[in-house]
Amino acid sequence: MLDGKKVLFSGMQATGNLTLGNYLGALKNWVSIAEEYETFYSVVDMHSITVRQDPAELRRRARTLLTLYIAAGLDPEKNCIYYQSHVSGHAELAWILNCFTYMGELNRMTQFKDKAAKHADNINAGLFTYPVLMAADILLYQSDVVPVGIDQMQHLELTRDIAQRFNGIYGDVFTIPEAYIGKVGAKIMSLQDPAKKMSKSDENPNGSIYLMDDPDTIVRKFKRAVTDSEGCVRYSQEQPGIRNLIDIYCACTGKTPAETEREFDGRGYGDFKMAVGEAVVSVLKPLQDRFADLSKNKDYLDGMIRANTEKAQYYSNKTLRKVQKKVGFPERIR
Ligand code: TRP
Repeated sequence: MLDGKKVLFSGMQATGNLTLGNYLGALKNWVSIAEEYETFYSVVDMHSITVRQDPAELRRRARTLLTLYIAAGLDPEKNCIYYQSHVSGHAELAWILNCFTYMGELNRMTQFKDKAAKHADNINAGLFTYPVLMAADILLYQSDVVPVGIDQMQHLELTRDIAQRFNGIYGDVFTIPEAYIGKVGAKIMSLQDPAKKMSKSDENPNGSIYLMDDPDTIVRKFKRAVTDSEGCVRYSQEQPGIRNLIDIYCACTGKTPAETEREFDGRGYGDFKMAVGEAVVSVLKPLQDRFADLSKNKDYLDGMIRANTEKAQYYSNKTLRKVQKKVGFPERIR
C-alpha cells in the first residue's frame, strides 16, 4: 500500500515495434486501471539485453515506448513512468534474489527453454536469470498487483515463491504480489495466421498492425487479412480469422460480438474488413497525434523522466535498504 492505494507494477520491453495486440491486450488496460492504483510502469530495457541488441536502436525504441505510455493516456504526473536501467535498485535487488533462487526453478521456466532454443548461439546467464530480475522489479516497489499476460504467469509464480522464501527466513520484508485479475485485455491474433498471437517479432509485417502504421497501411492490412470460407460475419470457433477481426472491432468500438454480427448481417467480408480498419484507425490516429506532439516537446518529456526516475529511486531504495540490512550488509555511514 502506498498513500492508501494498492501498488501496481508492470513493464514492457522496448524490443520490436509495438503492435495493436500490445495496445489492446495490455497498454489500453493499464490506462483503464491506472486511477485505482499507485502505479509503476517501467520500460524494462535491462531485460532487453538478454538477447543481442543494436545500441542505438535499443535507445531509440526505449524512448519511443516510454513516449507511447504517455501518448496512450498514462498521465506521467500520476503514474511513475521510467526506464528500468535508470534505477540501480533493480540490478542490486536482482543480485540478492539470485542467491535465493534455485537453478532447478529457473530450469523449469518455459520461456527460458523457448528463448534458449531460438538463440542457441547466445544462451547467456542473463537469459537464465531473467525471471529473477523480473521478480526484483516487482518486489522492489512492494507491489500488490501485476497485470501480466498468460506467458508471464510462470514468472510471477516464481516471484511469489522467491518472496515467500525470503520472508520465511527474514520476516515480512516483501509484499506477496498477485496477478491482476479483472477485465483482461483482448487477445489479438495475427492477421495472416489467426492461430498465432499478433507479435512484434513476426517476420510477416502484414500479420501485425504496428501502432505507428499510417491509416492507409492499416486499411490495406485489414483488406488482406485472412478470413474464412463461410462468407458471413459470425463469431465462432470455426472462423478464427473473422473471430479475431470481431475481437479487434469490439475492442476498438466497445461493441459486443453479438451487436457486431447484427450490424454486419447479410453483408460480406469486404465491408466488414473495411469497418474494422476504420475502427482501428480511429483509435490509433489520436494516439499517433499525441505521440507526435510529445516527441516535439523534448524538455517536457525529459522533465517527466527525471522526476519519475527520482520517485522510483526513492521507493525502491526504501525496500533495498531494508533487504540489505536483513541479509547482513554493513550499515551505510552517513
Ligand atoms: N518479462 C515481461 C515481458 O516480457 C516484462 C517485464 C519485466 C515485466 N519485468 C516485469 C512485466 C515486471 C510485469 C512485471 O512481457
